Amino acid sequence: MNFQAPKGVSEYFPPKSSWFEYAIWKLEESALAANYRLIELPIFEDTELFARGVGETTDVVSKEMYTFEDRGGRSITLRPEGTAGVIRSIIEHGLDRGQLPVKVFYKGPFFRAERPQAGRYRQFYQFGIEAVGIDDPLIDAEVIGVAHRAFAKMGLRNFTLKISSLGDQESRRNHRVELLQYLAKLDLDEETRARAEKNPLRIFDDKREAVRKQLQGAPVLLDYLSVESLEKFDLVQEALHKLGIGFEIDPMMVRGLDYYTGTAFEFIHHQLGAQSTICGGGRYDGLMETLGGQSLSGIGFGLGIDRTLLALEAEGIELADRQYLDLFIIPIGDAARMRAVELANEARIGGFVADISYGDRALKGSMKAADKLQAHFVLVLGEDEISSNSGKLKRMSDGSESSITLASLVSELKKLSS
Ligand code: HAM
Repeated sequence: MNFQAPKGVSEYFPPKSSWFEYAIWKLEESALAANYRLIELPIFEDTELFARGVGETTDVVSKEMYTFEDRGGRSITLRPEGTAGVIRSIIEHGLDRGQLPVKVFYKGPFFRAERPQAGRYRQFYQFGIEAVGIDDPLIDAEVIGVAHRAFAKMGLRNFTLKISSLGDQESRRNHRVELLQYLAKLDLDEETRARAEKNPLRIFDDKREAVRKQLQGAPVLLDYLSVESLEKFDLVQEALHKLGIGFEIDPMMVRGLDYYTGTAFEFIHHQLGAQSTICGGGRYDGLMETLGGQSLSGIGFGLGIDRTLLALEAEGIELADRQYLDLFIIPIGDAARMRAVELANEARIGGFVADISYGDRALKGSMKAADKLQAHFVLVLGEDEISSNSGKLKRMSDGSESSITLASLVSELKKLSS
C-alpha cells in the first residue's frame, strides 16, 4: 500500500521549501522591525476557547473545526486561527499587566475542515501578529504596514489592500436594527433566518446566489459609524497615506470571524481566483473580555503563507533559495571517506555549508551530483591527496583549481570566497 498525505494539505519540499522559509523570514524581519516579538503557542486548545472567542455562528466554529476528545475526556480543537490563543495566553500569563501594547508575532499550521480547492487547505500556514492593549488608529496602520512591507520585500505587486470599519458598539447597534428590519422582508429559509437573528452580519457570508441577490441594497455598516468610529477610521487612512500604502475602502467587507470591531482589512491578490485573500485582520474590542480578561482592545492579522506562495508563483517571482552549498567533498577509497568526514566537519564549524558524496559513487557520478547541487567548490580526495595531505579546490563556476594543504582547508575556503 502506498500512503498519501491526507486530503487538502499542502506540503513543501526542496527546493520550494526554501520559498516557504524565505517568505516567513521576510515577514519576521518586517514584524521585528516594528518591535513585535515571537509568541509560540500550542496547536490545540480547549474547544470552548474558539467557540467563545471566534463565535458560534461563524462557519469556522460551526462547520470547520477539528474537534476531538482527548484521553482525559476533554474537548480539544486543533487551532483554526491564532488570535484567540494569543489572547488566552496574554490573560493566563498576565502579559497585559506589563508594558502595553503587547506586540507579538506567531507562525505555524492552522486547521479548518473546509472543502479543499486551490489555495484552500485543511492544514494551512499563517504568519500573524497581534498588538494588544492600546486602542490607537496609528497602531492599526502599523499592523497593516507590517504585512505590506513584507509583501513588497518579497516583490509582490499585483494585490490590493481593502479596508473597512465595523465601528464601535453604538455603530453596530444602530446598523443591526436597520439590517434586521431589512432582512425581515426577505425570502429566507428558517436556518438562515435563525442564524441572522443571532448575528445579522453573518448573512453576508452566504454564498448562495438567491440570498446574495436579495442583499443588494442592504444597509451597510460603514454608513452607520458613530462620530468616534468615523474619526478613528479617518486617522487610519491618514496614517496609511503617510506610510505610502494605497488602499480601497470596501464597505461590503465581511470578515469570517465574530470578534471584529473597528478597522478591518484584507489584502486581495488579483491572480488567485476564488481564494484570493492573502492576508486578513482587524481590531477586536471585546475579545479579551469575552475570554475572561480585562477590557482591552487589540488588532492583528493572519497572513496565509500558502496563498502568498501561490501569488508569488502567479507573478512569476522566484524567491532566492537560501540554501547554497559551499563545498562538496568527493572521497575515493576508505581512507579518503574517513578524512572527508573530518574535513566536512571542519568546514561546517568554520561557517561553510559542506556535503560529502556518500556511498560508492564513481567520480563521474559524483561530479554530476556536485553540478546538480550547485556546489561552489569541489574537493576530490583520492589516495594521493590523503598521503600528501594536500588537494585541489575546484571552483565550479570557472573550473579554476587552487592547490591547498588539507589542514588549511577552512582558511583557504575563506580566502577563495572573499
Ligand atoms: P482569517 O481571515 O480567517 O483571519 O485568515 C487569515 C488568512 O489565513 C486568510 O486571509 C488566508 O490567507 C489564510 N487562510 C485562512 N483559511 C485558509 C485555508 N483554509 N487555506 C489556506 N489559507 C487560509 C484569521 O485567522 C484571524 N485570526 C486574523 C487576525 C489576527 N485577525 C486579527 N488578528
